Amino acid sequence: MAKLNFGGVEENVVTREEFPLSKAQEVLKNETVAVIGYGVQGPGQALNQKDNGINVIVGQRKNSKTWDKAVADGFVPGETLFEIEEALKRGTIICYLLSDAAQIALWPTVQKHLTPGKALYFSHGFGITFNEQTGIIPPKDVDVFLVAPKGSGTSLRRMFLQGRGLNSSYAIFQDATGKAFERVIALGIAVGSGYLFETDFKKEVFSDLTGERGTLMGAIQGIFAAQFQVLRERGHSPSEAFNETVEELTQSLMPLVAENGMDWMYANCSTTAQRGALDWWKKFRDATLPVFNDLYTSVATGVESQRSIDSNSKDDYREKLDGELKELRESEMWQAGRTVRSLRPENQPKASVVASVSSTKEVFNQLSAKSESVG
Ligand SMILES: NC(=O)c1ccc[n+]([C@@H]2O[C@H](COP(=O)([O-])OP(=O)(O)OC[C@H]3O[C@@H](n4cnc5c(N)ncnc54)[C@H](OP(=O)(O)O)[C@@H]3O)[C@@H](O)[C@H]2O)c1
Repeated sequence: MAKLNFGGVEENVVTREEFPLSKAQEVLKNETVAVIGYGVQGPGQALNQKDNGINVIVGQRKNSKTWDKAVADGFVPGETLFEIEEALKRGTIICYLLSDAAQIALWPTVQKHLTPGKALYFSHGFGITFNEQTGIIPPKDVDVFLVAPKGSGTSLRRMFLQGRGLNSSYAIFQDATGKAFERVIALGIAVGSGYLFETDFKKEVFSDLTGERGTLMGAIQGIFAAQFQVLRERGHSPSEAFNETVEELTQSLMPLVAENGMDWMYANCSTTAQRGALDWWKKFRDATLPVFNDLYTSVATGVESQRSIDSNSKDDYREKLDGELKELRESEMWQAGRTVRSLRPENQPKASVVASVSSTKEVFNQLSAKSESVG
């Protein structure tokens, strides 16, 4: 394991150089990896493992679109695709990739098949950390660990196909066989991680729940909405407000930050923008710090996990979710975003189509209609 310096702090990291795929294949050669659930992480992790030469099977409830998707992706019913309980029986490593709410419902079934020496693998610390709420308490004679890719299963697969790799965290909760470390790292490499950094179950879930409620998803939408509202109330058009709030960020600035960091992005902007950003970023930090502290406390005390369990276990969960997403989608800001996206050159109709319409209004109508399909 390599020790790397992250901003002055030494951390344990496992890279592909150190733990190549051939080693992962050797460690896993006598294992049957059962990926339970074929939602978002399931396909990414199962397909990458399959392409990496690992003996992987999928457990998925039948008569569902998800089952059909697994078949379409090349998993063969009765050979590499089974009902959940059959896959649990056959697997020596159980990758528990149902939604976090479904993991609670299916736990009694999973538990039955966790015979000594098997391994229980998660991609989130949720079920184990909040075990008083989830009831997920594994037997002592199985390994329990996690590999949590830092991104969607869709990105995990896409990046694998491009020869790249998403970074993942790993953690060991229980080492019953003495082989938990090599098993978890082998799985991490096999699912397509670029490199793996060490964490524990609690830290993984606390940081994950904070991040998605914070800068990754919740806070970013909140800040977008506040700035958009101010610009609109001060008389700016929706297109101007959207471009200055979202479009420039996603299209121009964030790729620069991803490439070389925030200071480099600042260095590559106008001097006027630099001065303003340097003067204002600490005010935003100070204004949001109390909210982030409240958020972390809400995560650490189990309020957020309980809320997720309660709302995601309800039968009308999807319906309610659709309603909330509709509210966002139909807001002026994201409606403006739809038109702005449609105006990106790569999303515009071909020149011949534009040439065949007679007025600007018609062009806009066409662009709006097209934006339905380009999303
Ligand atoms: N989403 C991500 O990109 C991501 C990233 C990192 C970590 N993770 C973690 O990875 C794990 C899996 O997440 P996910 O987002 O991939 O899950 P998901 O897409 O929500 O999982 C859906 C899967 O769960 C099955 N399922 C749902 N309810 C069920 C029930 N009552 N009985 C049996 N099967 C049921 C679905 O089958 P049907 O289609 O038949 O309903 C489907 O196979 C979670 O622990 C999550 O926190 C996810």
